[in-house]
Amino acid sequence: MKPELLPVIGPARFRSPILLASGTCGYGLEILEAGALEGAGGLVTKATTLEPREGNRPPRIAETEYGLLNSIGLANPGVEAVIEKVLPRLEGFPCPVIVNVAGDTAGEFAEVVSRLESSGVHCGYELNVSCPNVENGGMAFGVLPRLVEEITRLARSRTARLLSVKLTPNGGDILEAAAAAEAGGADAVTVCNTFLGMKIDWRTGTAALSRGTGGYSSPALLPLVVARVWQVSRRVGIPVIASGGAWTAEAVLELMSAGARAVQVGTRVLRDPFAPARIHAKLLELVSE
Ligand SMILES: Cc1cc2nc3c(=O)[nH]c(=O)nc-3n(C[C@H](O)[C@H](O)[C@H](O)COP(=O)(O)O)c2cc1C
Repeated sequence: MKPELLPVIGPARFRSPILLASGTCGYGLEILEAGALEGAGGLVTKATTLEPREGNRPPRIAETEYGLLNSIGLANPGVEAVIEKVLPRLEGFPCPVIVNVAGDTAGEFAEVVSRLESSGVHCGYELNVSCPNVENGGMAFGVLPRLVEEITRLARSRTARLLSVKLTPNGGDILEAAAAAEAGGADAVTVCNTFLGMKIDWRTGTAALSRGTGGYSSPALLPLVVARVWQVSRRVGIPVIASGGAWTAEAVLELMSAGARAVQVGTRVLRDPFAPARIHAKLLELVSE
């Protein structure tokens, strides 16, 4: 299989199949300053909500032997601050930017998208109907295909830009959710968000995260994501963007073999901001063999 190295998804065109995953590179400013965008085909920002959110109380990150638990809880400055203070600084950003959007109601998702349309900086949106770390909305939406379709349809009515819906692996039927996103008019689905996880100190019975559970990410999850990407890409006609377990160029190519048009790299970037450049260089080497 020869992978497409300059993927087109909906109306958006990317510089490489490697995208930086939401929440692991903020709004891209630090990674831009560090000069670490080489190899990145595009970047997905931190979740943006209608009102500013402080997120969950610390501790909201915990290391485990094989992976990372996070329960950030969609901390962000709110859509107005993003429009006025953040996006103007991303003018001329070296790769396409997708804004990750979250909300407590279907109307809130649409309102955030609608307001962001006033900026010309980003190429599209990723609707986060799958956050495992909030009380309202989040993955509670993603497990209900009817709601996934409604959220997608409303957001679709506000924009002609790229619209991807990020699905949850935590309960519900991801195939039904993907079909619902397609029916609602999504250009793509992102498969998938983090897996619900928890760490407890067995001596004290205390959870490592303030909220108890969190989202787990680890290279060990790759086969779980490969299976979901493979299943979803056979169920829907729209492109699948893989997210989860991509630590190496081989993993990116495996996810593309399963049917992904592009692959997000997340926790790996937290560990090493220059990983996308390395993964991309290796990927080019592997496909030219
Ligand atoms: C610290 C952290 C924060 C995250 N924040 C978000 C977020 O705001 N919105 C979202 O859709 N996904 C968020 N994610 C999920 C990632 O975008 C990605 O889907 C997930 O980590 C799986 O990919 P990986 O195995 O490459 O890390 C976050 C992940 C981490 C580790």
